[in-house]
Amino acid sequence: MAGFQSLPGFREFYPEDFSRRQQIFRTWRQAAQAYGFQEYDAPVLEPLELYTTKSGDEIEGQLFSFTDKGGRDVALRPEMTPTVCRMVGAKAGALKRPIKWFSIAEFYRYERAQKGRLRAFNQFNADIFGEAGPEAEIELIALLIQCLAGFGLTKDDFYVRLSDRDLWFFYLEALGFNDAQARGILGAIDRYEKMGDDAFKGYAETHGELDADRKAKVLAFLKIKSLGELEAALAPYQSDKLAARLADWRKVLDGVGAMGLADFITVDLGVVRGLAYYTGFVFEAFDRKGDLRALAGGGRYNDLIKKLGYADLPAVGFAIGDVTTGLLIEQRGLAPKHATAPDVFVVLGGEAERKAAFADIRALRAAGWRVEYPFKDAAFGKQFKAAAESGAKLALIYGGDELAKGVVKIRDMSDRSEREVPRAEVVDAVRTALAGR
Ligand code: HAM
Repeated sequence: MAGFQSLPGFREFYPEDFSRRQQIFRTWRQAAQAYGFQEYDAPVLEPLELYTTKSGDEIEGQLFSFTDKGGRDVALRPEMTPTVCRMVGAKAGALKRPIKWFSIAEFYRYERAQKGRLRAFNQFNADIFGEAGPEAEIELIALLIQCLAGFGLTKDDFYVRLSDRDLWFFYLEALGFNDAQARGILGAIDRYEKMGDDAFKGYAETHGELDADRKAKVLAFLKIKSLGELEAALAPYQSDKLAARLADWRKVLDGVGAMGLADFITVDLGVVRGLAYYTGFVFEAFDRKGDLRALAGGGRYNDLIKKLGYADLPAVGFAIGDVTTGLLIEQRGLAPKHATAPDVFVVLGGEAERKAAFADIRALRAAGWRVEYPFKDAAFGKQFKAAAESGAKLALIYGGDELAKGVVKIRDMSDRSEREVPRAEVVDAVRTALAGR
């Protein structure tokens, strides 16, 4: 095998792949701007410590980390959330609220290679800081839906599963679990979809066997699929905390419904999220067929900025990945064709004509058209063939006869019609010929 291979899980973007990625980024950026989010960027390399306590065991085990030449322990960023918290925390007093920020960036996790999971991938992150109420969740869930609907994906292609870690904690507290036990149960729930009943083995090892009655209640809670079922399940418990959470649930679902997006969202308490910092609502987006790993994930993380040593600032956000999103739009035939066709192909008589054409070529390009010309002299027939193959809309012909008359010929490639225009008017003539195409 010649040369070197790229590392496993790292992608090269040949032009066609690159243009697909650009379409994804463009769609996300448009959505974010329409929702009034502001774009930011941040370092790729961060102090290792930013992740070792904040992101949780799963991400910690996947870090690309090393000691730099100055003896610092550093890591390539596996996610944006701790970084954006530091940025917002450091200037919290000076930023106008609500703070609505987004970014598009590359992240690195040493994951086991599998479909939809790589070691270097891009995420669109959107976060709202300084808003404690569920209005922020409504805004973000709607934005997440637009980030996928913007490709032409519909409610039949993907959906958002909404859950709530606070609700779980309050419910488990009402069932008599202490905090450590509740965390153990949430860990089991996180694994339940993949492992089934075995997910509870870890809990039993640490906290003892779970009694059948409470296990049944946990599993029933896990299977809730609507607000009505949720209200019914909580009705027997007198808890202000649970009542307040239910009020927030109604607000979020009402708000998302009022935006006309009810069909995109389901109540699903099976989602608890692996990351350590989430405190309230959590949500994930999936393809309807269930072929792919998560498209996006997020939730509320009200304590993280304070844990990093800054102000007490509520926060909620999500990230959507380019790998699974790309697979889904490909599967649905929504990926764009790679467009490289020039607007104008310039056909040149020879060296003298090439020189004469250069000023016009430069002027046409400065006006914004995509203009191509052959690098080497060739017969007219060959050049017209190349013009046709390139998909150009117009050919501009710089032959000796034309130049002697002070004109240029414009050929419409669709019907081969030709006309002559004075050289001085070539930019205007191209503008007229391309108008409305
Ligand atoms: P996450 O669930 O770890 O959340 O990642 C969000 C999305 O990034 C996933 O749903 C997936 O599309 C993509 N992703 C993650 N890991 C990989 C990988 N190895 N290969 C390809 N795609 C991947 C977070 O990262 C949170 N920081 C999101 C967040 C923002 N929460 C609040 N604000």
